[in-house]
Amino acid sequence: MAGVGPPAALAQLPTYGVGRPPTVEEVKAWDLTIPPDGQGLPQGSGTAALGKPIYAQRCASCHGDKGEDPKYRVLTGGRRTLTAAELPKNVDWLIGGEPALTIGSFWQYATTLWSYINRAQPFDEPGSLRADEVYAVTAYLLHLNGIIGENDVIDAKTLPRVKMPNRDGFIPDARPDVGKTTRTRKR
Ligand code: HEC
Repeated sequence: MAGVGPPAALAQLPTYGVGRPPTVEEVKAWDLTIPPDGQGLPQGSGTAALGKPIYAQRCASCHGDKGEDPKYRVLTGGRRTLTAAELPKNVDWLIGGEPALTIGSFWQYATTLWSYINRAQPFDEPGSLRADEVYAVTAYLLHLNGIIGENDVIDAKTLPRVKMPNRDGFIPDARPDVGKTTRTRKR
């Protein structure tokens, strides 16, 4: 055990004598988050046309053929509903009421979509898609939201360049105790 991890991790051991620090490989396997600039995106590519059948097979049962099913999360539509002056009452914010928080209306970066699908979807089998498949369903969802064309190639270079419709809809939180990088939603 000696020398496997930093002293802080080893310091957790004495009480019950269980556990061990994670190995470098284990940390890497969990550290899947892709930042807005796309750093760490793997090789591979996909188009909406290629993603359509994968989506039909792996995603449509829960999200609808075109991402419109409100059963869990609506993935399309809702553009410009964030700026409605009056918010209706008794709306389920999460499943596509007004404002509808969808990929096209709300998400700030296309790379987040790749990152999220890669680690969390399909919901019943997360982590089961290959990189090419994640690129392809990401492209398909961007296409369904009217953001890219059906045959636009999405890969580690092109994905970070996709400008999401709500990219500039977030404003810095001015409160001094919140920190410079914290962002909140603009109403
Ligand atoms: C078994 C049902 C199921 C399947 C299959 C499924 N999803 Fe989901 N999906 C969910 C649920 C439930 C959530 C909400 C998860 C949460 O809030 O933690 C979700 C959330 C999402 C979101 C986030 C939406 C948002 O704006 O918050 C995306 C994107 C998504 N799914 C994409 C996909 C893709 C792509 C596939 C296929 C590869 C897929 N899903 C397959 C059930 C499913």
